Amino acid sequence: MVTADCPRVIPVPLIHPELPSWPAMVPQHPTRHVGSRAATRPLGSQLPGWIGVGYLAALSTTITALADPDYRPFSRRLAWLASDADGNPSGSAYLTLHNKPSQADLAELELAVHPAERRQGIGSRLLAEVADAARANEARVLLADARVGSPGDHFLAQRGFTVGLTLVFTRLPLAEVDSAVLAAVVEAEHPGYRLVSWRGVVPDEFGQTFTDARSAMDDAPVGEIDYGPDVWDLDRTKAAALRIEQRGEHLMTIAAVDDANGRIVGFTELVVPADGKGDAQHFGTAVLKDHRGHGLARWLKAESIRQAHDRFPDLGGLLTDMVDTNTAMRHVNTSIGYHPTHETRRYKLTL
Ligand SMILES: CC(C)(COP(=O)(O)OP(=O)(O)OC[C@H]1O[C@@H](n2cnc3c(N)ncnc32)[C@H](O)[C@@H]1OP(=O)(O)O)[C@@H](O)C(=O)NCCC(=O)NCCS
Repeated sequence: MVTADCPRVIPVPLIHPELPSWPAMVPQHPTRHVGSRAATRPLGSQLPGWIGVGYLAALSTTITALADPDYRPFSRRLAWLASDADGNPSGSAYLTLHNKPSQADLAELELAVHPAERRQGIGSRLLAEVADAARANEARVLLADARVGSPGDHFLAQRGFTVGLTLVFTRLPLAEVDSAVLAAVVEAEHPGYRLVSWRGVVPDEFGQTFTDARSAMDDAPVGEIDYGPDVWDLDRTKAAALRIEQRGEHLMTIAAVDDANGRIVGFTELVVPADGKGDAQHFGTAVLKDHRGHGLARWLKAESIRQAHDRFPDLGGLLTDMVDTNTAMRHVNTSIGYHPTHETRRYKLTL
């Protein structure tokens, strides 16, 4: 998955602050990790100094490394389960490591402690385990997302993480869209440009120019986090679209073409759930530098909304998110009617 309107920002899976997904975080049939490391790690000499003696639950907690079957082409995950003296699970942690050399120094943390077991040091013990493993795997920066004001937000700030960027999430309720206003934006003249659109994988005639246009993302704000170069080629462009298709979802792309040379200079992508209901998610939106300031982003988005509305009348809304300092994208979205829903902070810890 890429992040909406700003796909250079690697999404870190967000755990809801109130943790509705808590049971799902613990593998149902945990398998002991088979390897040179001890599978379980009862509390011993490695106890970090900041775990106070008042943390009785943390003192009797056992951390077990689990095998996680989530191997992907460019990443793999390690997993841990925290359990109490009776073997009952109390928390879990995942560490995602990247294989691509440009992102090998970044690792992502997902951490959850059962709501009834919080504030007893269990999260801190899991974090210590994850940080050790990240270092052992040569990651240099640990990333984690938390909703502003949530327990995770406070925890990460207390445990030495700093804010790498803030993401603003917005939603456009389709029922509120004024179709006359939308039509006016879509039909407005944009001399020298025309819109084209396709569903699923890019047609051959636009394959290379669309791939080249993805470089328009290169200067999108990414806060204090260095994601390294994000290189696209035609195979990657097609593979990304195919993955969406294989999940049964609908990828709709609108692109702006420069009449002078037939090249794509801007695009927006929208992914609609398989059943055409609920909320759709914007993926990338970008306009090449030399073509900014002509209203192309707004035009592209307006056409994307119009097509989504026509093709999927049961769709409830469109979701997007972007780094808070991306004033241009925020302005475009606000002008079309997207409302902010919440903000998350992407924290980073230099290991
Ligand atoms: C974040 C989370 C894992 C913390 O687990 P935990 O076991 O409660 O954490 P700890 O007990 O080790 O807390 C260590 C310190 O973090 C801070 N902290 C943790 N939760 C806090 C909260 N709700 N409000 C304020 N500070 C908090 C405190 O300084 C705490 O020390 P203290 O209790 O002595 O004051 C847990 O709240 C959770 O599962 N949240 C939902 C998932 C999430 O947001 N994960 C983080 C992003 S991946």
